Formats: sequence, structure tokens, C-alpha cells
Amino acid sequence: MTYRVTLIPGDGIGVEVTGATCRVLEAAGAPVEWETIPAGMTSFEAGGKPLPDAVITSLKRNRIGIKGPLTTPKGRGFSSANVALRKSLQLYTGWRPVVSLPGVKSRFSDVDVVVLRENTQGLYSGIEHEVTPGTIVTLKVSSYSAAERIARWAFDYARNHGRRRITVCHKKSVLPLADGAFVEAFHRVGQDFPFIEQDEATIDDISMGLAADPNQYDVLLLQNLYGDIISDLCAGLVGGLGVVPGANVGDRIAVFEAVHGSAPDIAGQGIANPLAVMLSGLMMLDYMGETKIADNIRQAVWDVLTEGKTLTGDLGGKANTAEFTDAIIDKL
Ligand code: NAI
Repeated sequence: MTYRVTLIPGDGIGVEVTGATCRVLEAAGAPVEWETIPAGMTSFEAGGKPLPDAVITSLKRNRIGIKGPLTTPKGRGFSSANVALRKSLQLYTGWRPVVSLPGVKSRFSDVDVVVLRENTQGLYSGIEHEVTPGTIVTLKVSSYSAAERIARWAFDYARNHGRRRITVCHKKSVLPLADGAFVEAFHRVGQDFPFIEQDEATIDDISMGLAADPNQYDVLLLQNLYGDIISDLCAGLVGGLGVVPGANVGDRIAVFEAVHGSAPDIAGQGIANPLAVMLSGLMMLDYMGETKIADNIRQAVWDVLTEGKTLTGDLGGKANTAEFTDAIIDKL
């Protein structure tokens, strides 16, 4: 069987890192046929919409996609196509496994934490207005049903992936209603999973705890903004933005993508690290049940990283994107 997968190359370094990922998956014999559709700035500058209808239609049909980063211009122009994509397809779980990699220098060597971020609500409502000159109100939209939905996803995930404990993150002391509901929904759903340890911690405690000893956590469940920030913090624990994969998942559709953005400062130079999108591609293969091919590629990546001879600049090496990709394909 061949899987048809929606491929959104993305902006900036997106084309370079998704291109490298496709080369590796194809070299490993992944049974994937790409349906390539531009979005973001690339589509906007070509006269289209940042989030073209064709992207939505293709993802609804294929149910699986892989996506490069999309640029959100600062100031006016268009609002984030990333946020719009997650909301319109109800990709409500941002799933980011953060794992130490061989040969990648970082403060810790044994990190294994999963960050689960609620993707559709909170301060990403985009609803803000100036009540009186100089006084701005921004709405943090939170519903109990959305909190329950991601809590159930988190518990199902923990059960199916052998994770033992989920920590829900909050700031209830200052946001008793919004954050209180998120925590309450977590505990309510948790009653159905008494075999999984459950606890709660404030966002400030978690930030300090991650910097001191990341492995005191197993799975972290966070609202949108907290999850966005903590994902990047966690990337810093294992070698930076170039190495952390992710996915945005709903009940029927999953879009795999790196945590990093379009990196305009290095775009077009052919030096970006494609690892984060490649590892997202491996998450995609696992998700489809193609675990053998995913494991083969993972081994090849691990070998290249362990040898340390062909690493990109962000990992302290001198290789460019193509050389790093070739090294992995050679191992395959
Ligand atoms: P960024 O992640 O693009 O870049 C931050 C720094 O990390 C830069 O110095 C960049 O060169 C470096 N970096 C990122 N990925 C790298 C890689 N694969 N290899 C080597 N170095 C890498 O974050 P920034 O600059 O805040 O955002 C740029 C644009 O990306 C913005 O328009 C932002 O909205 C968008 N963005 C899109 C995301 C998505 O599509 N999921 C996620 C985050 C940002």
C-alpha cells in the first residue's frame, strides 16, 4: 500500500528541510506519495491565501501531512497560517517528544520528556482590542470541553506509549477560572486512568524544574501559550530548535512538523539542520504503522550523529544540509 501524504514545503528553510526529509524517506523505501501544496508566505506572495483551501481539502482527504515552517510577518499582513491550520482542522494536540540525541552536545544527556500542548484555545484566540487609548484587553478563551478533549488524548497517549505520569501545568493562583477548568478537566478524565500517575504544577515551578532536572517529568500537559514557551525551553535542553520534532494531531488528521520556524536569517543558504523535520517524518511513519522503516532511518541518523563527522553548523559541525542528508542515506 502507498500512503498519499500532503506535503507543505513551507517558507524560508522549509523547502530545504522538507526536501531533505523526502529524500531520506524515499531512500529508505517509505511507501509514500507526496501531494505537494504551498502555503504561508510562499502562497501569499504568489497571489494566493496564506492558508489555501487546497491545503485543507488535501489534508481532509489524506488525513496525514508533513509541513515545513510558515512565516508569520510581523505587524500587519496576515495572521498566522499555522494557528489557522490547527484551528480549522481541530488539530488540538501539539505533540513534542523531547529526547537527548547521541553526539549532540547539551547540558543534559538523558532527557526523555513529552510536551503536549493544547493548540486551539487560550491566548491564541487572536481577540484583543483597545478599550480606552493605551489600555488593551486580550481574551484567553478556554472551554471545559477542549480541556477534557486534550486530557483524554494525553491519557490515551500515555497508556499506548508506556508513559507513567502526566503533570498538568497551570497558573491557577492568578487565573482560577481558565486554568482551574483545565486542571479540573484533567483530574476528571484522569479518574478513568487510575494506573497512570497524575500531578499538577505551576508554570513557574515547571520552568525551574526543567532547567534543574528535566527527567523529574514524564509527560507535560499544557495550555497553548505555556506549551509554546515550554516546547522551546525543552528544545534548548537537548541541543536546540534544529533537533526537536513534533506533530499537530486531531481526532482524524495529523500534521507532522518541527518545532522551529522558517529561520529567515539562514534561509536559502543550504545550511539548515533538517533533523527536526526528518524526526517528525519518523513520527509520521510510526503513526502510520511503518515502524520498521522508521527504525531503519532512526538507526542511520543515530549512526551519523554518533560519528559526529558530518554535522550541521548548529550542532558544531561544518556540513551543509545536503551533506548531512547524504551521510544518512549512505548509512541506509
Ligand atoms: P526560528 O525557529 O525560525 O529561528 C530561531 C533561530 O534558530 C534562528 O537563529 C534560526 O537560524 C535558528 N534555527 C531554526 N531552525 C533551524 C534549523 N533547522 N537549523 C539551524 N538553525 C535553525 O524562529 P523565529 O526567527 O522566531 O521565527 C521565524 C519565522 O518562523 C516567523 O515568521 C515565525 O512566525 C515562524 N515560525 C513558524 C513556526 C511554524 O511554522 N510551526 C514555528 C515558529 C516560528
